[in-house]
Amino acid sequence: MPDSSQLVTRIPVLRPELPTTDALVPYLRSLEDSRIYTNNGPMVLRLEQRLSAYFGQPKGGVTAAASGTAALIGAILTKAGRATTGKPIALCASFTFVASATAAQNCGYAPHFVDISPDHWALDPDSLHNHPRLHEAGLVVVTAPFGRLVDLAAWEAFEARTGVPVVVDCAAGFDVMVRANAPLSKTIPVAVSFHATKAFGCGEGGAVFSADPDFALRCHRAVNNGFLGCRQVIGDNTNGKMSEYHACVGMAELDRWAHKQTRYEAMATTYRNAFRTVGLADRIHVGGEVSAVYALCHCPDAMSAETLRMALAYDGYETRFWYGAGLHAEQGFGPYTHDPMPNTDTLASQLVGLPAYLDLPDAEMEQIAATVARVI
Ligand SMILES: Cc1ncc(COP(=O)(O)O)c(C=O)c1O
Repeated sequence: MPDSSQLVTRIPVLRPELPTTDALVPYLRSLEDSRIYTNNGPMVLRLEQRLSAYFGQPKGGVTAAASGTAALIGAILTKAGRATTGKPIALCASFTFVASATAAQNCGYAPHFVDISPDHWALDPDSLHNHPRLHEAGLVVVTAPFGRLVDLAAWEAFEARTGVPVVVDCAAGFDVMVRANAPLSKTIPVAVSFHATKAFGCGEGGAVFSADPDFALRCHRAVNNGFLGCRQVIGDNTNGKMSEYHACVGMAELDRWAHKQTRYEAMATTYRNAFRTVGLADRIHVGGEVSAVYALCHCPDAMSAETLRMALAYDGYETRFWYGAGLHAEQGFGPYTHDPMPNTDTLASQLVGLPAYLDLPDAEMEQIAATVARVI
């Protein structure tokens, strides 16, 4: 039997597909004409308008940003400002990508990791309401894991009851938000990533969605070094602007978005059918509640998850624990304080990311499902 270092990856876990060069050319030409390459130029404004329209928001309701992390930092600075000595911590999930906590840390907060609900994989507003460190918290960062939407109304109620500002990290959730026609919140900003690996991508980019036009204006200012319409710096800020180049890719991505969504839906349907055929329909999460860039196999325990990863690796399939073992287990980040983490520890060890991308052949999905059936 070969050891794991001899295994050759034939099928990667992800193969992003962004707009073609031909699709970009007309947009790039218009940059040449305008000679504006950044600083909220015409292309970023057009992209923001088109994204606003997607969610029925007035012009300017969406703030484009340089990355999902920058969007989150902009949302935090606008919503909560920087940490203070009386409110030094941010309550965050550990079951997330590191950027959720990095964004809080960049705004001066010390992350404190809280366990998630086993039902919806996110922080739970009702349990957090009684958290012993709530009085120290200047911020709650709620991750929508794998784009799985969180209950914004429940978080609005939490915020109203506790006075602790809440920001949602829905980095992977653009496609889920569009599919669910999800209403935006007037009080809780939602940050999204347009990283190349996300369903809607522009290379590096992101946006903050809010139903409050005044919030959106202040957020534009926060990611624009504190400038808005005049040369006077106002408020906590960063340089988190999206460049015109990235906006060009975003525009071309929006042009083909309906078609891309249909292709994602087709991939998700094939995966679900393949798992249904082997009697494991309830083990696969792909599309639907989670972003279609993830195909997640929920194994019954950590041992079967590891066995599955090894079995798939032998067949050349790459897999990934997308959120590692949780941020509380990271060795080079922090250390930060955390609660007991039974739900995070369990889920992180069971949820195996399978290969998922638009041109993944049907036969590969069927083969993967067959391997899962053999292992589980
Ligand atoms: C949950 C989560 N938050 C934040 C981010 C950061 O987004 P970006 O890479 O665009 O900065 C990601 C990116 O993968 C993510 O998955």
